[in-house]
Formats: sequence, structure tokens, C-alpha cells
Amino acid sequence: MYNPPIRGRTAAASFFWELKTMSERWTPDSWRNKPVVQMPAYPDAKALADVEAQLATFPPLVFAGEARNLKKSLARVAKGEAFLLQGGDCAESFAEHGANNIRDFFRVLLQMAVVLTYAGALPVVKVGRIAGQFAKPRSSPVEKVDGVELPSYRGDIVNDIAFTAEARTPDPRRQVMAYRQSAATLNLLRAFATGGYANLASVHEWMLGFVKGSQQSRRYQELADRISDALNFMRACGLNLESHPELRATEMYTSHEALLLGYEQAFTRVDSTTGDWYATSGHMIWIGDRTRQLDHAHVEYFRGIKNPIGLKCGPSLKPDELLKLIDILNPDNEPGRLTLISRFGSDKVADGLPPLVRAVQREGRVVVWSCDPMHGNTITSTTGYKTRPFDRILSEVKGFFNVHAAEGTYAGGVHLEMTGQDVTECLGGARAITDEHLNDRYHTVCDPRLNAEQSIDMAFLIAELLKQERAGKAQPLPAAAGM
Ligand code: TRP
Ligand code: MN
Repeated sequence: MYNPPIRGRTAAASFFWELKTMSERWTPDSWRNKPVVQMPAYPDAKALADVEAQLATFPPLVFAGEARNLKKSLARVAKGEAFLLQGGDCAESFAEHGANNIRDFFRVLLQMAVVLTYAGALPVVKVGRIAGQFAKPRSSPVEKVDGVELPSYRGDIVNDIAFTAEARTPDPRRQVMAYRQSAATLNLLRAFATGGYANLASVHEWMLGFVKGSQQSRRYQELADRISDALNFMRACGLNLESHPELRATEMYTSHEALLLGYEQAFTRVDSTTGDWYATSGHMIWIGDRTRQLDHAHVEYFRGIKNPIGLKCGPSLKPDELLKLIDILNPDNEPGRLTLISRFGSDKVADGLPPLVRAVQREGRVVVWSCDPMHGNTITSTTGYKTRPFDRILSEVKGFFNVHAAEGTYAGGVHLEMTGQDVTECLGGARAITDEHLNDRYHTVCDPRLNAEQSIDMAFLIAELLKQERAGKAQPLPAAAGM
């Protein structure tokens, strides 16, 4: 029954409820006793249980030590000593699992990272929405086309996008396919990151694939020249660059929205070195804006794993509720554990974000603030496509930086939907994609992504904001503190 909102009583009741939640024993399957939303209705419970049991015998995709390293890097972001760059597909697909696709994504992310590292003069933590980003929450459980109603497409890990009853029936065997694809993707990412592809000495070669003579390619070329000069200078000074793995290799972490809790549970493993539970389906996982109910299954699952985690924060999230979520998800106030990913929309960020930032500051909670400028800025084009205007995306990022500058907090990162391919899904950018262009190469199975050029473009623009933010930081301390 609904309790009338008598403030004192509500607060007290929720306080005891929270104590109870937090003291209740957590197990990898304790989420099963909670209400849950956005999970597919599998017709065959036995087949699902069999797949989950099989997945539980498979090797983990990531090692707990890696997740801890990412958490340490994110702790540096929380302190303002590094910047988080998180990006990738809205949804990975089985059909587009080619080496070129992965390489092109990796390359664009490297280019963006170089731009940001150089501008901000600080390390960039690179996290892909990749090697596990398959499951999608949907606004409606069904889709209706010409009078026919079928289950909504929920990502390739659940069902197929084709509009037939067979394709749309959730099939648990797809979880095995998603796992195998994730393993192969991660393998190639590791090879690129450590095998020489990411060597800073190759900064010019990542250019490949650019349209010659475009504005971004010139800008990028200039930056790459400067980096080469710096490396040559160091070499001339007698530094043996080959002996420095920091220059030869990079780290690319994986992340996804952990929506499909049965799958996640199967990959929840005890770390033998600490005895702690880790999600081993990816380094970082996040809770979506639609599944962050305090007493629901997703929050329950997340509270028990030790990975760095993200929480999407949209316009409906109230400051009180956010603080309660933080109590549950990061009770020890561990730096790097929790990244708050705000997604308000370019028109709402200026009013919506400050109350959350203030509440977190007031309570002394350590978080990483990251900006998802994609999900609050989706519109339908005049030609009927779901799209996002580049200018609105940029405007939300600017709003995010402004809020943090005004509140004295650190704008620590961005979370983008992007691809290394030359798609036409988002409007605008330097090579002004218009409504009419959207039809040319609109390939996403879910939300519209920034293409390779728009992504680099965005990186240069974010670099400017980061530089300003850093310049603000570097202002001299008041005289009294200067002793
Ligand atoms: N290892 C450093 C880093 O990951 C420097 C580096 C090497 C780098 N290769 C890179 C930075 C490619 C960006 C892109 O940050
Ligand atoms: Mn999306």
C-alpha cells in the first residue's frame, strides 16, 4: 500500500529498510528474490537454466586484478588526476563481428585518447563499451508493426532483430554466442593494446581511414607531428624508447550495462587472491537509468561485486534517492568504485545536474562524474530516423563542464556511443550530415552513434573544455594557503 508522504516517517522507514538491505546476506543469486524489470521472458525455463549452468563452467573473460587496476585508475579520475574516456556501440551485434570493425573502433578510441591526453596533460583511462555490450532495455516489451505485435528486440544476446515471431522469441543459446564473441573481441583488443599497434611511435599510422584533407585529419596530423617531435627529442637526449612499455602499449578496459542478471551471475566468481566476488564478464559494468530502483534486483546484484561500477543518472533521479543508492553501492566510500554517468539532455543538464552534485558533495561522497551526452539527446529526424544532433551532444558536454566548474567539482569523463565506421547516424559534425544523408549508411541495431570523424571532432572539442578545466585548477592558491 502507498504510504502518505509524511516526511519524518518516510525517512525513518527508509532508514530501517536500508539497514535491513545492507545487512541482508548477499549471494550471486540473491537478486532473484527481488522485483526485476527489463529482463526477457524466456519461454523455456529449463533451457535457460541449462545455459546458465553451462556458462558458469566457462573461463572468466577478465581477471579480478584487472578490475582492481581499473578501480585504481578511476580513483585517480575521482581526484582530478586523470580523465575517463568510455565509448563504443550502443549494442554490439553478431552480424558485425569482424576484425576490421574492432580495429577501427580501437583506432578511433586511441586517436581520441591521444588528443585528450595531450590537451589535458593527464592520463586518459580508456574503457570500451565492448566485449559484452549486448543486452538492451526497451521502453516497451512489445513492438507493433502493421497490426502485428511481437516481443521487442532486446539485443543479440536475447533475440534477433528480424520482425518475425521466431526471431523475436528470447533464446538462451544466444548467451553462449555472446560470451564467445566477447572472448574473441577481448582477445583482439588485448593484442592491439599490448602487441605494438598502440605504440605511440605509430601515432601517424592511426590516421589511416581518414578522408584526406578533412579538417580533422589536418588537426590530427599536426598533433601527431608534435608527439613525434617530442619522442624524437627524448630519443636524442639518450632515452631508449623501446625499453619503455608505457610508450609501447596501452590499457583498454571493457564495460557493458549488466542487464541480463542470469548471465552476469554465471560469470560472478570468487577472486582467489582476496576471497571477494567479482563480475568477470567485463572490467566495469553499469546500472541503467531504467533499472536503478533501490529495492530491485539490479541494485541488489551490483552491491555484492567488487568491480568498479557505473550508475546512469537521468532527470528522474532525486538527490535523496541518489544518496541512498550510493549508501548501498559504495558503503565504504571507496574511491574509484562508483562512476556516476549523468544523461540529462542538453536542455536539462544545467538545472538537473547541480542538485545531484551538491548532494554528493555535501555528504562527502567520492565519485567519478562522467557525462553521457547521447541518451538525453535522441530525436526523430524529418526523414523518420532516430538520430542525435552533434550540436546538442556537444552542448550537453559543455553544460556538464560548466556545472562542475560552478560547483567546484571535477568533470571527470565522457561516455559516448560511437563507432570506427563511417556511418551516417548522428546529424551534423564537421562534415555536416543532414536529414537526407541519414539514409546512406544508417547501420546501428539500436541508438545512433557518432561516426569516426564525428568522434575525433568531439575529442578535439572536449580537449578544449578539459584544457579550460585544467587551467581553472592551476590558478594560484590564496596567499594564506601558500606557506
Ligand atoms: N601508455 C600510455 C597510455 O595508455 C601512453 C600511450 C601509449 C598511449 N600508447 C597510447 C596513449 C595510445 C593514448 C593512445 O596512456
Ligand atoms: Mn544506447
